[in-house]
Amino acid sequence: MVKRKVVLTGAAGYVAQRMLAELQARYDLVLLDARPTTRDGKAVPTLQVVDLTDPNREAYRRHFAGAEAVVHCAFVSAPGLDTTTFLDNSESKFRAEHANVGMAYNVYQTALEEGVRRVVVTSSCHAADFYERLIWADKWDVVTPEMLPVSDNFYGWAKAAYELLGFVFATGQGLPRRLEVVQIRIGGPRDTADLEKCRPGEIKKMHRGLGAYLSRRDQAQLFIRSIEAPSIENEHGVPFQIFYGISGNTHRFWSITNAQRVIGYAPEDDSQVSFAQRIAELSQKG
Ligand SMILES: NC(=O)c1ccc[n+]([C@@H]2O[C@H](COP(=O)([O-])OP(=O)(O)OC[C@H]3O[C@@H](n4cnc5c(N)ncnc54)[C@H](O)[C@@H]3O)[C@@H](O)[C@H]2O)c1
Repeated sequence: MVKRKVVLTGAAGYVAQRMLAELQARYDLVLLDARPTTRDGKAVPTLQVVDLTDPNREAYRRHFAGAEAVVHCAFVSAPGLDTTTFLDNSESKFRAEHANVGMAYNVYQTALEEGVRRVVVTSSCHAADFYERLIWADKWDVVTPEMLPVSDNFYGWAKAAYELLGFVFATGQGLPRRLEVVQIRIGGPRDTADLEKCRPGEIKKMHRGLGAYLSRRDQAQLFIRSIEAPSIENEHGVPFQIFYGISGNTHRFWSITNAQRVIGYAPEDDSQVSFAQRIAELSQKG
């Protein structure tokens, strides 16, 4: 069977590398990144070096031609900062995040022009960070993708901004056609569920790590189903969805029911089960 062509941006980055093997097994992947090596310095075979913040789309449009989908994981970090320091609200962070919104425009626009059917974008739970502050202050319980995406940091603001930019492309208004767009608000894509950072008795911190956990195989499944689901139309007929990227965690505080319903996401992991022994240790009073 001929494999469908899928473009993966930010292919040398952490999130893309975490599902690269599964995507490679299924698709004819075109790997794009601004640098040729992973965070730990390993060369990525077949990777094409491109700068997707460049407004001159002629520099990279040939890579998009004939692709069925684009998975957008490229991310511009502010100098000295990375995704672990997202709360920084300095001007240099704003400039970097502004560049991320511009880069998302380049990706949507090039996909539209080159006949790509669907773009699956790596967003973040931080797009709606404001509610998480309420959750840990015992003033809220579950955040859903339908809630107004408000954040208290530039990192989350930019995620919400490029999610909503994707909606414009999905409507097709004033454009040659509609672009199908899925936003995946990744939670905690770390194999430890961040439990190594918790001390006994730190129940809320533990709950956060367990609720946000996204296992490798659930990450791969969520992206694959987002690429392949036949229809992603919302209730108004617009091909646009926002899904939370977490496993089937008993401790979840972000809703995944729409991903289960729309694309048949069926997570195989639950941090409650995977980390049961560690949970018992941490649940003791410190
Ligand atoms: N890592 C996490 O814990 C986490 C959690 C939630 C969401 N996310 C989101 O997932 C996405 C990917 O994050 P990551 O952790 O893999 O980041 P990363 O920094 O490891 O990877 C991003 C990649 O994008 C590339 N890139 C930067 N500028 C580029 C440009 N101009 N053109 C092309 N490529 C460019 C970088 O070289 C890098 O390889 C981001 O949007 C991030 O916000 C990450």
